Amino acid sequence: MKNTVVVGAQWGDEGKAKITDLLAGEADIIIRYQGGCNAGHTVVVDGETYKFHLIPSGILYDGKTCVIGAGTVINPVVLEEELEDLKKRGVSTKNLKICQLAHITMPYHIDLDGADELLLGNNKIGTTKRGIGPTYTDKMARLGFRIEDLYDEELLLSKIERALPIKNAQLEKIYGLKPYSKEQILEFCHYYRDYLKPYVDMDLLPFLEKSRKAGKKILFEGAQGVMLDIDFGTYPYVTSSNPIGGGAVTGTALGINSVDEVIGVFKAYITRVGEGPFMTELLDDEGEKIQSIGKEFGVTTGRKRRCGWFDLPIAKYSAQVSGLTGIALTKLDVFDSFDKIKLCVAYKDKRDGHIYDNYPTNINLHKYLEPVYRVFDGWKTDISKAKSYNDLPENAKIYLKEIEKLTDVPIKIISVGPDREQTIFI
Ligand code: GDP
Ligand code: IMO
Ligand code: MG
Repeated sequence: MKNTVVVGAQWGDEGKAKITDLLAGEADIIIRYQGGCNAGHTVVVDGETYKFHLIPSGILYDGKTCVIGAGTVINPVVLEEELEDLKKRGVSTKNLKICQLAHITMPYHIDLDGADELLLGNNKIGTTKRGIGPTYTDKMARLGFRIEDLYDEELLLSKIERALPIKNAQLEKIYGLKPYSKEQILEFCHYYRDYLKPYVDMDLLPFLEKSRKAGKKILFEGAQGVMLDIDFGTYPYVTSSNPIGGGAVTGTALGINSVDEVIGVFKAYITRVGEGPFMTELLDDEGEKIQSIGKEFGVTTGRKRRCGWFDLPIAKYSAQVSGLTGIALTKLDVFDSFDKIKLCVAYKDKRDGHIYDNYPTNINLHKYLEPVYRVFDGWKTDISKAKSYNDLPENAKIYLKEIEKLTDVPIKIISVGPDREQTIFI
């Protein structure tokens, strides 16, 4: 295996965790590079389902090092729940390492996320309310707490003195919420200082460098997706981090030349949770059909996912901004009973007929655009047991070839069901 980044190439929930879990079999180190517990990653092994929010999907293998990287934000309460759940299920967590540079979601970040959304009213983002935006905001505003601060009492106290008056002023004066006392924050920090200690390795950065130089195989696990990227997504309807391929470099302390391959994970269609533009969204029976066959419910919030056809302008854009070297296409089996399948190949301006072959980043323009579709015949066959490309029906191959041709990125993995076994490598 080459050092590989697994990137969500649409609006999240593409099946990244399944692909990461599969590739993790050959990796030595699996490292999450951004996001926090807004992520909901599902892995199914021998019919048993595991849901992860912060822990890399590689944890199910014995003897692999799993890292929560520098670019992530960690809500220790959720991490504790996740760790305890894994231990109860007999999964060893001893190989988990937390980067000391990761930022901590404080209790007030969660209050602020909910309050911001309430105040935005109809303009809300539809966040997961996990405090992600406020944690990254404080990181950028230089008011954040890093994991390493927990182990330096002097530093911790000075950071609380610095940040808390500002946070409390926001809570009380803008939102009319209850402030936090210094003692409350200290108690929280002390509890998680002790709880997380076995996982925090202050020598993680030299360990990563040594491993890279020794030729250890590294798998970078992304969360969310390119269209939720803070810079390249449908801003402001995005998350607050960089899910794109480049996030793997800024979020891990492994240099740009440590990446050999970038696999973009796409669903055979698209889903989105939360608010924001979605050109190919289906608000009819077909959308309902994809939602119900695909069991499209958010892992973190349980919300119904919005569903629509595959969007090529987005796929091309996504391939460019992440530097994709390959595609993993998931959930192809969801189309097994469809008569017709549509592929959006461009957008048309309803006002003057102008055709956009490439994704326009100004989302205000989107309301004037409509998708231009190419229609494909379905295959009307159960493909969930297909083991090789040749097992796939001709109509499925035609659909796949078109995606490959128009994105100009080779499809390297096809997923035909949630289980590890239901995968075709090309
Ligand atoms: P992630 O956030 O990108 O890891 O994806 P999620 O776990 O949020 O959502 C993907 C869902 O699709 C999960 O329930 C997976 O078990 C499921 N899944 C993944 N690949 C396939 C597939 O090829 N076919 C079907 N039917 N389900 C899949
Ligand atoms: P995984 O890793 C899908 C969405 C939210 C909202 C926007 C901002 O499972 O693919 P946030 O809480 O991050 O401030 O919310 O981003 N969002 C996701 N959508 N999958 C995810 O993660 C998501 N994480 C955040 O629904 O629209
Ligand atoms: Mg998910």
